[in-house]
Amino acid sequence: MTQPIIELKHVDKHYGDLHVLKDVNLAVDKGEVVVVIGPSGSGKSTLCRTINRLETIDSGEILIDGEPLPEEGKELAAMRAELGMVFQSFNLFAHMSILDNVTLGPIDVLGVPKAEAEKRAMDLLGRVGVAEQAHKVPAQLSGGQQQRVAIARSLAMHPKAMLFDEPTSALDPEMINEVLDVMVDLASQGMTMIVVTHEMNFARRVANRVVFMADGAIVEEGTPDEFFDHPKSARARDFLDSIKGH
Ligand SMILES: Nc1ncnc2c1ncn2[C@@H]1O[C@H](COP(=O)(O)OP(=O)(O)OP(=O)(O)O)[C@@H](O)[C@H]1O
Ligand SMILES: [Mg+2]
Repeated sequence: MTQPIIELKHVDKHYGDLHVLKDVNLAVDKGEVVVVIGPSGSGKSTLCRTINRLETIDSGEILIDGEPLPEEGKELAAMRAELGMVFQSFNLFAHMSILDNVTLGPIDVLGVPKAEAEKRAMDLLGRVGVAEQAHKVPAQLSGGQQQRVAIARSLAMHPKAMLFDEPTSALDPEMINEVLDVMVDLASQGMTMIVVTHEMNFARRVANRVVFMADGAIVEEGTPDEFFDHPKSARARDFLDSIKGH
């Protein structure tokens, strides 16, 4: 039996009285792409943030490559670097060049020599199609370009897996595909990915599994075809009807 790269066991979390994650169990194998879908407020972002320990959990366990997440300190920083995370907003450092945004982590956290970090950064920027922008600052790039830089920046840390939280939902429609194409490419190269998105075409094309969340719980999961064509729960059917209307 292979060991999952990411594993959540009986994870519970509250914000005050609000029970935001309810006995969440999820195992993501190496190379697997899991799309998480569900209504606003269902806990999708919280799930991503707990996996990266940006949020603590009340009970249960989260294992990365079989290891529990460290509480704090250097071990936590190292473990966090193993999980790339891309958010809805691009979170690039505004006053640094694109190149410096991508080399910062490798130089400061991994101790990679500058020349080597820059060479790899340029390769990655090429891979996501923005190498010509390397010496600009983020504000000079389109949203789609900035999001691709954010992906390159995560990849520069050699992550074991990537977490994407609605990476295209803040983008103008014409830029969505250029970001999704990069993600399709990553998936085809075997990257393990958890992707929160409502992009059904992407999910159908790329996901091995779709996980549907509602009210903090995983309500059902299945292959994209099973889930989109034959949702089992009324919650999922209602949700799919609501997003198909757009
Ligand atoms: N820091 C916080 N403090 C208190 N409540 C929070 C906090 N962050 C999120 N919540 C609440 O937890 C619930 C889950 O939020 P979360 O952001 O995980 O949902 P989501 O599924 O990502 O929603 P969306 O689709 O709108 O992004 C919501 O009810 C939200 O209001
Ligand atoms: Mg969210």
